[in-house]
Amino acid sequence: MDPTKDLILVKSSFNTNSSELKVNTDSDRFSDNESMKVPSSNIITINQNMTIESLFDENLVDKKLFIELDKIKKSYGEYRQSTDTSRIFSQARKLTNPFENLGFSVFMDRAGVKMANCDAVFDLTDSQTTLRLMRQGGKFIFVTLAEAPGAFVQYIQWRRPTSFGYGMSLATPGEIQWSKKNINMERFSIQNGPDNTGNLYTNTDWLIEDIMEKEGDNVVFVAADGGFDVSKGNKFHLQEHLSNRLIMMEIYGAIGLLRAGGNFCCKVFDTVMPMMRDLIFCCSLLFREVWLFKPISSRPANSERYMICKGFLLKYKIDKLSKDAIDVTDTEVMNIIDKTKIANRIKILTLLKNVNQLYETKDVLQIFDKIPKKFIKWLKQQNNQSFRRQIDVGKKIIEYLSFSEELEPSEKIDVVSYNLSKAFLLWRIPDNKVKDDYFPKARYRGTSHKGSKGRSKGQKGRKKTYRGRRSH
Ligand SMILES: C[S@@+](CC[C@H](N)C(=O)[O-])C[C@H]1O[C@@H](n2cnc3c(N)ncnc32)[C@H](O)[C@@H]1O
Repeated sequence: MDPTKDLILVKSSFNTNSSELKVNTDSDRFSDNESMKVPSSNIITINQNMTIESLFDENLVDKKLFIELDKIKKSYGEYRQSTDTSRIFSQARKLTNPFENLGFSVFMDRAGVKMANCDAVFDLTDSQTTLRLMRQGGKFIFVTLAEAPGAFVQYIQWRRPTSFGYGMSLATPGEIQWSKKNINMERFSIQNGPDNTGNLYTNTDWLIEDIMEKEGDNVVFVAADGGFDVSKGNKFHLQEHLSNRLIMMEIYGAIGLLRAGGNFCCKVFDTVMPMMRDLIFCCSLLFREVWLFKPISSRPANSERYMICKGFLLKYKIDKLSKDAIDVTDTEVMNIIDKTKIANRIKILTLLKNVNQLYETKDVLQIFDKIPKKFIKWLKQQNNQSFRRQIDVGKKIIEYLSFSEELEPSEKIDVVSYNLSKAFLLWRIPDNKVKDDYFPKARYRGTSHKGSKGRSKGQKGRKKTYRGRRSH
């Protein structure tokens, strides 16, 4: 089967412009400062021993699916306890993923290929490129959040070679650092904020102000990839809850930074708790379209998906910039703004800022008391679909783990094989780098291949001949 099929499996987006979605009740909530406060009943403390009921909302995913996946994830956790079983688990996860061997194209890690996959489907980088011309010039200002070592940056710089980007990601010792050798640092600026930590919890306001000062209202793309290691202490079941605040600050950053019409791509995990529901809902008030998308370049067994928000709706940062700075060319966006009653950007920013402060001492369970039914229905559909996928793949992994280690992998599992190079064609990125040792030793008539330095003149000649043949 062809990966194209999976590429186009994009489910319905949530669209603020729909007539049923005149969310007056909810956007009216933002009409005075009083409503910026989160009701105290929404603030709770959550700990490791939470009951299963507190980990999801039955309106957001089928209970049966939740319980089945929870069991599967707990059994993964047991495998990850020791190095030995953890190795077998990793092997099972790789072998059950038909897209595992996609490779990284020319990027430093899998994240570059995930961004390429999202971009190909949603045109996030505004680059209508062709196979002949894969890269596009022109002004393109972007920001990446929680994204070190920076494969998203590397991808964007590759696709948009005259772009300029800013990035904020944890800079404290022991954290993943930006890969300066893979990023063009002349076109990228690392921002660690006044406290020099790069922590989005404490520096996002400063980041918005700073970039606004340098770039004005010209940021067209924000991409966020935040996450932390939940394998330590086996906290897989708490992943969604633990990531809420980080995702909220990424959304806060995007809302504060983007110009009208801009796009936002944000990694999310499961979205079955009220807090994630509310955060996605906030985005649906501020963007023309909101999608939850699982790229095939992201492992099918995990909950990772990307929230794709297209077309930032707000007029302009008139609160920050003089009217002269307004320069809207996207008439479509302007039409939507005029016709739609949308929530005020500043009010949503204030609300999220307040919630971030609350997080200093408490966990926040939810923001809104009331959400339109249509939105809940859409989110539940998306969640059920994501849970079914994780369960299907999870069952395969568990089946694989149940076989004796003595058997060859091919005796344990039959994985559909795809023509993966088609994916790179569709995403318009170069094929994986051809490694030196790609050329079979036999071609060198028994001479061991030591790379170009160790080769004699005659051997170099033979390699050329082989390359020539390959291109026929
Ligand atoms: C999955 S990694 C990003 C991977 C990256 N896209 C790549 O190229 O491979 C998640 C990143 O989130 C960052 N992060 C976690 N918590 C953060 C916080 N509070 N503020 C800023 N960055 C954070 C981590 O330091 C890490 O660099």
